[in-house]
Amino acid sequence: MKKLHIKTFGCQMNVYDSARMADLLAPLGYEPTEDPANADMVILNTCHIREKAAEKVYSDLGRLRLDKETRAKRGHRTVIAVAGCVAQAEGEEILRRAPHVDLVVGPQTYHRLPEMVARAERAGGRQLDTDFPADPKFDHLPKPGAAGQPSAFLSVQEGCDKFCTFCVVPYTRGAEYSRPQPDILADARELLTQGVCEITLVGQNVNAYHGGKGGLGGLLRALADLGVPRLRYTTSHPADMDDDLIAAHGDLDQLMPFLHLPVQSGSDGVLKAMNRNHDVADYYRVVDRLRKVRPDLALSSDFIVGFPGETDADFQATLDLVKDIGFAQAYSFKYSPRPGTPAASMEIQVPEELKSARLSSLQTQLNNDQETFNRACLDRVMPVLLDRPGRHPGQAVGRSPYMQAVHVEDGEKWLNQVVDLQITAAHPNSLSGVPLSPNAKACA
Ligand code: SAH
Ligand code: SF4
Ligand code: F3S
Repeated sequence: MKKLHIKTFGCQMNVYDSARMADLLAPLGYEPTEDPANADMVILNTCHIREKAAEKVYSDLGRLRLDKETRAKRGHRTVIAVAGCVAQAEGEEILRRAPHVDLVVGPQTYHRLPEMVARAERAGGRQLDTDFPADPKFDHLPKPGAAGQPSAFLSVQEGCDKFCTFCVVPYTRGAEYSRPQPDILADARELLTQGVCEITLVGQNVNAYHGGKGGLGGLLRALADLGVPRLRYTTSHPADMDDDLIAAHGDLDQLMPFLHLPVQSGSDGVLKAMNRNHDVADYYRVVDRLRKVRPDLALSSDFIVGFPGETDADFQATLDLVKDIGFAQAYSFKYSPRPGTPAASMEIQVPEELKSARLSSLQTQLNNDQETFNRACLDRVMPVLLDRPGRHPGQAVGRSPYMQAVHVEDGEKWLNQVVDLQITAAHPNSLSGVPLSPNAKACA
């Protein structure tokens, strides 16, 4: 067997794509390894969303050059591939700056990797494929493999037509595309037969899904009917939370009470300049309606501070929104100007020190709220899917319905099952629990 190492940066779409690349290369004799230094092939599946994310690729490529040279001295070839959004945005430049890179492949053409790899193994020579083909890659992907995991990502939607003024995604991933519902149900059936008990539907704008009757709400209902025990979806846009999707949160027990709903800013002026297509009042309305049908819904969000022209008052409005909503967790970033996006050339860029100060005060508030949310879970009993071993011997780790990490000592025997846990300790970033009874629930 040849060894394949894939390092994944960025969002859930890249996690999904990395798993599919492993599925595609398995028939060529590649099996996964955690160790890049002994891999016959290394794929960096990259992210272009912020400058720092993109820069990481070049520092990793520097290390890989040394590994490749060391292996070459021992008579082994190493194929190095760059995939993902940096590949799409900077393909030519990668080939120019990193002569040891053999393959560059974009997010919509990686189904062609087997041919590219075979060619690279046979004849050598460098290849670049960053097309946006007319026929979707999904039609060329093998059946999804769950790799023995109880929780799987299932891509239902790709790309983005929203063009928020700060964002590279519409350029790196291309136009919105929704997979036909029957194809998604077939993948879900396959995952269920492999013992998967939680499916997270993924897409850049997953709730813009329109590949079947009833949009994303209809798809979730169909998956619940199919017998998927736990369902989640990410990432949603507030402007696409339609009535049926909101209702599904009340109707479907299988749909976990957690929603990642990025708001970016609490200021109407900034939201408008970002081209987000909704205002602050719309966001509150959606949250109110969701909480009405599912009172225990936990919310998560993304924030950008220091968007061009953001004033102290705009930033204060973001803090106010955060206080009002009470997020269970959140991601927050300093605005990073991205080449070719409208916001990068807006006149009033916010100074770096001010961005840093705003980020730190926002994060103080968000961390407090997260701790408060975690503390409120003390003594509660929740069904937790234990999906991986922990760092301590015998420990298992899983996700609560609200996406918190939960640690269980001596929990190894319950791995890959949903277990009712009593929460015994709350930490800033996780919980600890003990099984309520010795009878774990097998999930599938
Ligand atoms: N499709 C999702 C988000 C995709 S990108 C949505 O519409 O919400 C993930 C997050 O990265 C975004 O929500 C945003 O908060 C952040 N982000 C995107 N571009 C950025 C930039 N140029 N600078 C800083 N953060 C950015
Ligand atoms: Fe980027 Fe906006 Fe599309 Fe999200 S909706 S991927 S932030 S352009
Ligand atoms: Fe990054 Fe591309 Fe995802 S830019 S966030 S990997 S869509």
